[in-house]
Amino acid sequence: MGPIGVFDSGFGGLTILKAFKENLPQYDYIYLGDNARTPYGNRSFETVYRYTLESVEYLFEQGCELIILACNTASAKALRTIQQQVLPKKYPNKKVLGVLRPSTELVGDFSKTRHIGILATEGTVKSESYLIEINKFFPDIIVQQLACPIWVPLIENNLHSTEGGKWFLERDLKMLLEKDEKIDVILLACTHYPIVLPLLQSMVKNVLLLPQSQIVADSLMQYLKKHQEVENLCTKNSTIIFLTSDTAENFETKGSFFYGEKIKAKQVKLG
Ligand code: DGL
Repeated sequence: MGPIGVFDSGFGGLTILKAFKENLPQYDYIYLGDNARTPYGNRSFETVYRYTLESVEYLFEQGCELIILACNTASAKALRTIQQQVLPKKYPNKKVLGVLRPSTELVGDFSKTRHIGILATEGTVKSESYLIEINKFFPDIIVQQLACPIWVPLIENNLHSTEGGKWFLERDLKMLLEKDEKIDVILLACTHYPIVLPLLQSMVKNVLLLPQSQIVADSLMQYLKKHQEVENLCTKNSTIIFLTSDTAENFETKGSFFYGEKIKAKQVKLG
């Protein structure tokens, strides 16, 4: 038995962990942020896969039986290979889930026009995972996507509310909407983006901006109900441990802002 592992390249996954804590407070969690090597968004498939696998194996060593990749880039570029090639051979009883599937299963339900937009990192966009997965669940929906390579650095450095930061957010938002004026739902397909949701909402009207946190928490809730054999392996003492591959001090300062409350972190070595 062990805690539920929650992984992100940096701070973004804290927006997902927060929703887990609110909706599933009984479980123990270990959050791991690979802050020393963030951002993953512009890195190659091989690099994202290697970093993600190292992080997943680290969380397995800490006793996690179930891990959520609370990072779209890692979910898009590494999850399938881990699920299909690594787990069956090395960890047949452990589970790794991502954030892509829960979002793509639901996003179509929110659109009236059947035209939706995806904002994400370059890696997620290039993987075309959202196009492929949404098409499986909602073949009638037309999807446009846009990579926003500057957003994660802006958010991690708390520069998104500056004049320059807002200029980039608005430019990219407009660029996506110009691709298809019928878009009525935009999925924020990066776990960092809920931080800029209020800013984005002030820039567009009549378009629903959809963060993933609640969707992913609901999906985990359903998963644990359906898979009692996994649920039984999750310890339930309501504790949360925060681990980072960069300094604890950096994580505590910036992470508190993403998580919405003060946190204590510990530095660990990955790879
Ligand atoms: N939070 C990650 C995501 O959801 C991206 C951050 C990064 O570029 O490392 O895609």
